[in-house]
Amino acid sequence: MNEQSLSVREAIIGRRSIKKFNGQPVDREDLMNIINDAVWAPNHKNREPWRLVVASEENLEKIQNVLRDTTIPNWQTLSNEEVANKMQKFTTPGAYVFVVVPEDVRQKQRLEDYGAASTFIQNIQLLAWDYGIGSCWKTPDFLDDPKFRDKLGVQHGERIISMLQLGYFDELPKAKERKKAKEIVTFFGETNQEEDQED
Ligand SMILES: Cc1cc2nc3c(=O)[nH]c(=O)nc-3n(C[C@H](O)[C@H](O)[C@H](O)COP(=O)(O)O)c2cc1C
Repeated sequence: MNEQSLSVREAIIGRRSIKKFNGQPVDREDLMNIINDAVWAPNHKNREPWRLVVASEENLEKIQNVLRDTTIPNWQTLSNEEVANKMQKFTTPGAYVFVVVPEDVRQKQRLEDYGAASTFIQNIQLLAWDYGIGSCWKTPDFLDDPKFRDKLGVQHGERIISMLQLGYFDELPKAKERKKAKEIVTFFGETNQEEDQED
């Protein structure tokens, strides 16, 4: 059991996307515990429209090789140092979670499934944060590359919607400001003039 325990609010407002990891691996057991809790995400008709391809511990090197072959096709012509530099963004995370959703032919269901899987991903990110594990949801173009999909065992009718990089970090990035509630809320039945008068 994780010793830390942030409140829901603390986790939501304190989480940052982590893009610089320190190379420390993430334990498979921690990942599985996080995923076991994250599945309690809302999803219509309990379709649970997700499956995960995870790489951690001894499988990290294998996924890094796939990422190298995919993103640096000419890597064999480069020096070890050049390859290592280009690969840094892929070699420092401590684990990878690829989130795969079914692509329902019906638009409503497909959007619902993407929405549900997004809440599932947010759960993973918040629960990981509570373990002191940072993460970043990434959507590089190669997620749709047929060769990459094939290497991950993604089937026709499925889509990888997220490459989640997870890991430990030394620096907390600054918060990116968000709009305040009053900037995005319109109270039904009230005009702007009425709102101004209330101030
Ligand atoms: C659907 C989605 C796709 C994203 N894709 C990327 C990405 O490809 N590369 C990246 O660096 N960050 C990506 N992000 C992370 C955002 O950049 C990050 O959430 C945003 O800058 C706000 O920062 P914060 O999460 O620390 O508040 C993505 C986030 C979402 C929700």
